[in-house]
Parts: sequence; C-alpha cells; structure tokens
Amino acid sequence: MQTLSTHRWSSAFARRTQGASGELAAILELAGGTDLISFAGGLPDPQTFPVAVLRDLAMPLLSGDAAVALQYSPTPGLPGLRGAFADRLAETQGRRPGAGELMVTSGTIDALGLLARAMLDPGDVAAVESPTYLGAIDGFRGYEADVRGIPVDEDGIDTDELERLCRSDSPPKLLYTIPDHQNPTGITMSAERRSTLVEVCRRHGVLVIEDVAYRELTFISEPLPSLWSLGPDIVVQAGTTSKTFFPGVRLGWAVGPREVIAQMVVAKQNSDQCAGALGQRLLEEYLRGGHMDRQLRLSNALYSQRCARMLAALDEYMPAEISWTRPRGGFFTWLSGPGRLDAVDLARKARDAGVAFVPGRPFHPHADGANKLRLAYSLASEDEIDEGVARLGKLITSTLENR
Ligand SMILES: Cc1ncc(COP(=O)(O)O)c(C=O)c1O
Repeated sequence: MQTLSTHRWSSAFARRTQGASGELAAILELAGGTDLISFAGGLPDPQTFPVAVLRDLAMPLLSGDAAVALQYSPTPGLPGLRGAFADRLAETQGRRPGAGELMVTSGTIDALGLLARAMLDPGDVAAVESPTYLGAIDGFRGYEADVRGIPVDEDGIDTDELERLCRSDSPPKLLYTIPDHQNPTGITMSAERRSTLVEVCRRHGVLVIEDVAYRELTFISEPLPSLWSLGPDIVVQAGTTSKTFFPGVRLGWAVGPREVIAQMVVAKQNSDQCAGALGQRLLEEYLRGGHMDRQLRLSNALYSQRCARMLAALDEYMPAEISWTRPRGGFFTWLSGPGRLDAVDLARKARDAGVAFVPGRPFHPHADGANKLRLAYSLASEDEIDEGVARLGKLITSTLENR
C-alpha cells in the first residue's frame, strides 16, 4: 500500500504569491449558493447567449473549415478575426488600428497578465482607480508591482491626484482604468477627464491600460471617445467579448502601440500560445454576419430595465444614510454607507437572509471601502431585484439602528 507524504506545499509557494489572500474566493463562495438572490458576480445573463445563431454558424465551420477552426492559431490571432475587430473599432471608435497594433487575446484577464508580464518588474508602480476591478489588482500584484489607488468621483478618476503621483518620487509606469460604466462603481468618466488623463499620461510617459469590458453595454446612445482613440500612442485598450458574446469562449482584443503589442505577443507565446481557433472563427462569422449589434440591442434593453428596477427599489427601500451611483450602462451600482456600516458583516447577515453581494473592501488596493458594497443587477430577475433590495434595505436599517 502506498504511503502518502504529509508535506506542506505552502512553504514552497513562489515568494510573489505569498501576499495573495483567499479573501475574494471566500467572499465569492459566500455569494455562490443556489438558494440566494445574487447581486454578487458580474455575470452576463445566459438568456443573452446567442444559442440559435451559434448553432447555425458552428456546423458549416466544422464541415468546411476544420483545418483552420480546429488547428492552433497564430499567436496574434487569426487574420480574419483581427480584420473583423479592426473594422469594428473603426466603426465604433472612429480609428482603425495600423499594422501590428492589434492582437486577439483570450479575454481581458489574459490581456492584463500579458501586459504585466511584458511591462512590470518587481516594485514598479502600477496606478489603478480606487476602487477598481480586483482582477487587475491581483494581476499586477502577481508580478510584484506596487499597486497605488487613485480616487474616483462621479466624473471618473481624479486627474489631479494622478498628476501628483506622476510628479512624486515613485511615478507610475502604467495606469489601469475602466472609463465606461466602471466595475465596481458603474461610473463613466467624463469627456473632459478623458482628455486630461491622456494629456497627463502623455506628458509623464505613463502607459495607459484602458479596459472597455462594459463600453458597449450602454443605456445611452452617444458613446464618449475611447482613451485609445484619443491617445493611440500611449494607450493599450483591452476589450472582451465575455459580456457581449459569451464568456465560455474566452476571447478579446488588445490594441495599442505596435511595440507594446509585439511584446505582448511574445508574452502570449509563453503563456497559452494562442486563443482557441474555433472560438475565433465563430466570433469572426458572428461579427461579419451583423449579429453582434442585433444582440447588443436586446442585451442592453434587458440590463437597462434591470438597472432601472434596482434604482427604483433602492429609492424605495434604502434608509436615508445610504447613497448609490446611477449607472448609464454596465452591470453594477455602488452603495456607500456611514462609517459605522461594516459591509463584510452585512454580507454574512445578508446571506442568512438569502441575498448575496460583494463588500467593497477588496476592490481597493489599500484598506478602504469597508462601508461600501457592490450590487450587480445583470443576473437577477426584476422580481428578485425588488425582493432582494427590500431584504437588504431592511437589514441595513436594523444594522444601523443597532450601532
Ligand atoms: C472590468 C472588467 N474587466 C475584465 C473582466 C473579465 O474579462 P474577461 O472575461 O475577458 O477576462 C471583468 C469581468 O468581470 C471586468 O469586470
């Protein structure tokens, strides 16, 4: 009989992973029950997955194009999908990428990992909005970056604070930002801030990473200029089809200065080598067939209704001490309470009451945000939104009364 060792592997973990906490996993686990009304994960609703169209597109690919669709792809992506992405960027952002400026990624998390791998040495300063997408905080810390938070107000990132950090003795090498319907706040950066941000970063030689995960999930008709369209010399835009096509395929794009994209391609050769060709071919056909815009209209109508329902429920059920953002797109609203509100404690109590959300602290690179919470309206039905917010409102009211 085999004797199993009792060796503890944690002492052998790489030094760069030592600070990584399981906090997020623990929170998400809390939020993952099936009996809950969940405002926790930023997941797209499966009813937006284009199942019927995919069925029609998949068979011809398998019978007529298997040699490409089932083969490895070139690392920068299949030329057809790169062309379809370039056409879409020209159409929706008013700028067509030049040669070597665009690559296909396996989604935004992949793009962030490639950028971190290509750009960050241990101790380099990476500036992020505070709060921000915690996948980015974790991703940059995974490469031992010194992650610094810059506050956000209703117009987006505070560009005066950014300028101060750029002038300090530890200026950032890169700045990560989500200008449209930000995760977790739902805030959209104003046109003026966009121009200022590009101007400040250009002056100080800071590479901007623009995450446009929610850009096309908008409830307003006129989009603001993307940072990449304003500063293609200093901005790498990371896009994803996870919320607009479906996340099971893991696809996105990165577009930016040729030199940086070339280095990301080198990094990709050493990670997953290429995004899956089958998904790339499906997406190319989907884009070329005009299906993306049709589906976006349906998806945005759904998310916009849910957002409106959530804002109405918050108006109805939340006590006066709670405030929240009014998103114009995306998946999230962000609640702020008085200093005595402990959102982690509230998350535990909410779970007992059958409601899940993510407390604010992990979205901050420093220990802020204990009295904040993120509510996602993307996955719950309107009835669930109403019921879940009512329960949460009751709970917050009683919690604040007892403190
Ligand atoms: C701001 C932001 N960026 C990126 C992602 C993940 O993108 P992907 O699925 O392409 O890795 C998310 C998903 O929650 C997100 O909120």
